[in-house]
Amino acid sequence: MNVVFLGPPGAGKGTQAKVIADEKGIAHVSTGDILREAVAKGTDLGKKAKAFMDSGALVPDDLVVAMVAERLSRADCRRGFILDGFPRTIAQAEALAKTLERSGRKLDCVGYFKVDDDQVVERLSGRRICRRCGANYHVTFMPPAVPGKCDKCGGELYQRDDDRAETIRERLRVYYRETADLVSFYGKRGLLFEVDASLSPSEVTETVRRTVCCAL
Ligand code: AP5
Repeated sequence: MNVVFLGPPGAGKGTQAKVIADEKGIAHVSTGDILREAVAKGTDLGKKAKAFMDSGALVPDDLVVAMVAERLSRADCRRGFILDGFPRTIAQAEALAKTLERSGRKLDCVGYFKVDDDQVVERLSGRRICRRCGANYHVTFMPPAVPGKCDKCGGELYQRDDDRAETIRERLRVYYRETADLVSFYGKRGLLFEVDASLSPSEVTETVRRTVCCAL
């Protein structure tokens, strides 16, 4: 099962990718997570990516394409993967097809998470993440039992720097300018499955199971 989750920032791609990847025993590959880790560790990639990420812009294609090709070559991707946050440009989508072809693989389907801009802003401005284990919460929609503390490991919850109001608006502009064309790109190839991502987290999981997973 080789799948892409596509959609605007805050659509719930990461939340659902974690659940489905666990259920299916396949890898969850989040380019945002890999890049944030590189920034935190101060690697060469992290140093190059930081300014783009802080402003809500996309990291240049060549950096991200090489990073994903390396990640997909690892053993845990052999049984399948969910790509969350990649591709984000037509050039990335074309590079992904070539990377997969070189290793005798192909993309099985693309789940397109559809949600409106007001919900994006509401979800991202309330998102909190555990510093220790990376678990994802929302102050209203998926609150932790104790405010500010992770239910799973007790770690401190923080707000991502790019989840501030002005950066969220820029990320949405970038999505419509650079990424939205991928909907028709994958639609024309018969790979696209639309998911109503405006529903509650458990309803969205059900929809993904019914549509994307059943299509495989
Ligand atoms: P990245 O981390 O990929 O950010 P994003 O695509 O903007 O996606 P998010 O992680 O913000 O949202 P999501 O859809 O995963 O939502 P989530 O499940 O967390 O990228 C960050 C940056 O890295 C980019 O801006 C760019 O600079 C760079 N980058 C990454 N990939 C790149 C690439 N391919 N090329 C170039 N640059 C790249 O949910 C959001 C919130 O809503 C959470 O609080 C959650 O609890 C809540 N929630 C989830 N589902 C629901 C629901 N159904 N109902 C109510 N609340 C919900």
